[in-house]
Parts: sequence; structure tokens; C-alpha cells
Amino acid sequence: MTQSLSAVVDLDVPGPEISRHLYGHFAEHLGRCIYGGFWVGEDSDVPHEGGIRRDVVDALRAIRIPNLRWPGGCFADEYHWQDGIGPREQRPRMVNTHWGDVEENNHFGTHEFMALCELLGTEPYISANVGSGSVKETSDWVEYLTRAGDSPMARLRAEHGHPDPWNVRFFGIGNEPWGCGGNLRAEQFAPLARQHATYARDHGENRLYRIAAGASDADYAWTETLMKQVSHGLGDREPREIFQAISFHYYTMSGTWSDKGSATRFSRDEYWTTVRRAQHVRELIAGHAAVMDAYDPTKRIGLALDEWGTWWNVEPGTNPGFLHQQNTMRDALVAAIHFAAFHDHADRLRLANIAQTVNVLQAMVLTDGNAMVLTPTYHVFEMSAAHHDGRALAIHPVGEVPTRTVDGVEVPTISTTASAKDGRTTVSVANLDPDAPASLDLSLRGRPAGQVTGRILVADDVAAHNTAASPAAVAPQDYDGARLDGERLALELPPASFVTVTLETA
Ligand code: AHR
Repeated sequence: MTQSLSAVVDLDVPGPEISRHLYGHFAEHLGRCIYGGFWVGEDSDVPHEGGIRRDVVDALRAIRIPNLRWPGGCFADEYHWQDGIGPREQRPRMVNTHWGDVEENNHFGTHEFMALCELLGTEPYISANVGSGSVKETSDWVEYLTRAGDSPMARLRAEHGHPDPWNVRFFGIGNEPWGCGGNLRAEQFAPLARQHATYARDHGENRLYRIAAGASDADYAWTETLMKQVSHGLGDREPREIFQAISFHYYTMSGTWSDKGSATRFSRDEYWTTVRRAQHVRELIAGHAAVMDAYDPTKRIGLALDEWGTWWNVEPGTNPGFLHQQNTMRDALVAAIHFAAFHDHADRLRLANIAQTVNVLQAMVLTDGNAMVLTPTYHVFEMSAAHHDGRALAIHPVGEVPTRTVDGVEVPTISTTASAKDGRTTVSVANLDPDAPASLDLSLRGRPAGQVTGRILVADDVAAHNTAASPAAVAPQDYDGARLDGERLALELPPASFVTVTLETA
């Protein structure tokens, strides 16, 4: 039976801006994300630019990735950046203890990462080592990256071939300090983070946006502890923020941390549990935002969900420490659920990073030697790009919202979001039900709407995925299920599908 939703959207009441940085990405020295994924080295047969894979760069440029977080994750807290500069063969080696216990040769370091960001046309988001690094390392790294002219670190950078400083805005202070980043309590981490953030200086015109590592899931007490310490008062002067944002992490899985569930073989119950848990992100964002509101009602401090996505058992036969997983239509719908929640909280949520870009967790692309495939999640990012920097438009349901009871919780089976930009309105809808079609009847108020075009991502099976042998098993197609009749937009969606339509609403 068709699941139907009626709703109203006021096209002339734009909400907060949806920062493009909600569509950020994450690349850690983990498994085949950096090595083999982004970096193949200058002697590789894989087409590359200065050692960086051309196919991966081209694919990611097409989805306009706004920022890329690096070098971790847990790896960031054992990374000493000076090991990753200078002639590659002379760089010290280390063991990547978190991820596979493999040797890291440090061939991909600061210069390679900044070159990658330039090729991608994306902003770097660098995570400093608070867990095992020193305040001096943090301070020197920022100086190395951003200081012009004559200074010890600027001279060192020039010696290594880059006289000009780079622009770096996003700067992370630690990662998961409650776990791999030092097993600290919030009360221990907060002063440490203040110290690192203080010495992460603004050099010249460069302005850092310092993101203090935050909570896991619903640890609102962590956020509260950081919020209490976010500013330093200067006597009678206006308080200034030491960090500009606080992060949190949330991963979606159908099982438990010890058995997360298979990426491609899952029951309907596991599917619905995944949907329920993905939708939980909305509650988590709201929870952290509510804590922040109590301390910062004018919303100066941003919330950053700088790790999110699905986390499944690794593909059979792969290194358990490499976190390599396939990516199905289910993952695509998880991404759609997250974007709708992000847009609804765009007033506080300023940055988000899916984990991770290539070959690891909920990846955009999977590589195998010379081959590369785009995942269903990639397509949702690409189809959602029109929302970047748009103004959020609230969609108000009228009457009953179709839901399903999952693990005792009522879960909406249709996910909707809309935004306006440059005289156009973009509406994205996901039918989360893999067994029933859905329809959306949307009343468009406040502005005339014309000319609707759209695309759809759909597969016969919610476990469908792309492989080198079948790279377009899940790929967007033109959509003919939209009818615009005056103020009424009707959309028909097949089971387990994601649709984005654009209307002229100037
Ligand atoms: O993304 C994989 C890992 O998940 C990150 O290194 C860590 O921060 C988180 O636990």
C-alpha cells in the first residue's frame, strides 16, 4: 500500500543557511583510504598527479566536497606532523597501532595533503594531536601551515618547497579524547584543549576555526563541560571564544560494536533498525544543541558532527583493521536521513564529515588497483549538492505522518527536506520503505513555482551496490514522477528511493 504524506512549505520564509560544510568529508591514515585510495605515489601506473589518484580527484570534484578532515580520527592522536615533511625516503616510519598495526611510511604528509586539497578545490580541516603530541607541535604546525615571511616554521616550509603559506581555517583540537585520543575525562580534556587552542595562533590574515573534540553519541555532559570552558573572560572586556566549535561523533550500525552487521546481507529487521538508528542523529543534534543554547543563546559556537556514517563488519577476507565495507542503497538512504536532519539544525550545526571518503566505512568511492567505483552514497551527495549554502525551508506535515514501529519506536518512513538558493527551490525526499511506494503531496506557499526537474536514485533491492563488474547498478536517473499543478507538487516514489527535484521559484 502506498505511504502518503501531505505537507506545506512556505517558500517565502527561508530559514538558516545550510552551510556547504555540512557536506564535508574525512580521510584518515586507515586501511586503503590514504594509501591506495588517494595516494599511489609518483611511480605508480595508476594515472595520478604528483602521486595523487586522478580518478578519485575527478570523482570528488564532481560532488564539490567542501572540506576534508585529515589525518584522523584516532590516527591524528599518534601523528607527529614533522615526520611527514621533507624528502619522502628520509621520513621516519611508525606503526599505525590503531588501524591494522601496519607500518606507516609517512609518504603522505602535510605537503601532499595540501596538494590534494588544492586538486579537489576543497578546504583543509586539520586535526591536531592532543593525545600524544605537545602544545609546541600544535603551535609549530599552525605556524608551518599559515605563517608568511620569516619565522622558523615558515623557513622550514620554504626549505621543503612551499615558500607561500596556505590558508587553513578548520583546525581540530584532538579526536575522541574520551577513547583513542587519551582516555580522558571531559574535565581533564577541557583545560588541555584550551591550552592547545590558545597556541594554535592566527598568523597574518589567517583565521582558524578551532573545533574542540567532543562527545560520543548522547554524552551531553561532555558538551556541557566544554561549553563551560569555551570562553575566557578578559576582566571587564567582552569574553572571547577559545574554540569556535565543539564536535561530536555518531555512527550507524544495525548490530553491536562487536558484530555491527553485514554491509550487504541484512534482513528487513536489520534494515529497519538501521533506519531507526540513522534517524536518531536528529535527536542527538537537538540534544547537543540544547545544551549549547543554555550557554550560548546567540549561537556563536558551532556544533560539528565531524564523524558520521554507517559502520559495518569488514568485507569478508579483508584486514579487520582496515574497515573496508561495501555500500548499498541502504547506505544511500542513511545519508539522505542525515542530510534532512542537518538542514533542520543548520542554525547550530555548522560542519559535518562523513567517515570516510575512499575505501573505508561509508565511502564515496571504492578503488581496486586501477579500478574505481562510485557508491550509492556518492550519488546522494551529488544529488544533494544544490542544497549547499541554500536557506533551509521547513516542511510542515499536515495530518498523519506515515511511520512504522521499529524496536518499539515510531519511525517516519518518508524523509523530506527543502532549501532555496538563487531563485530555485530544491526538494529532496527519501522513501525509506523497501516494500511500499510513497507519495508526497506538497503545498507550495508564498511564491509561484514553475518548471520542475528531478533525478531519482533507486534499486530493485535495498542491498544493491556497485562493483567493478557492475559499476552502475545503483546510479541516478531522470525522474518523471513529479507533477506540478499550480501550488501543488505531487511526487511518487518507488520503494527504497531517493529523489531530488528543483523548481524555479524566483
Ligand atoms: O572513522 C574511524 C574511527 O572512528 C576514527 O578513527 C575514530 O575517531 C572513530 O572512532
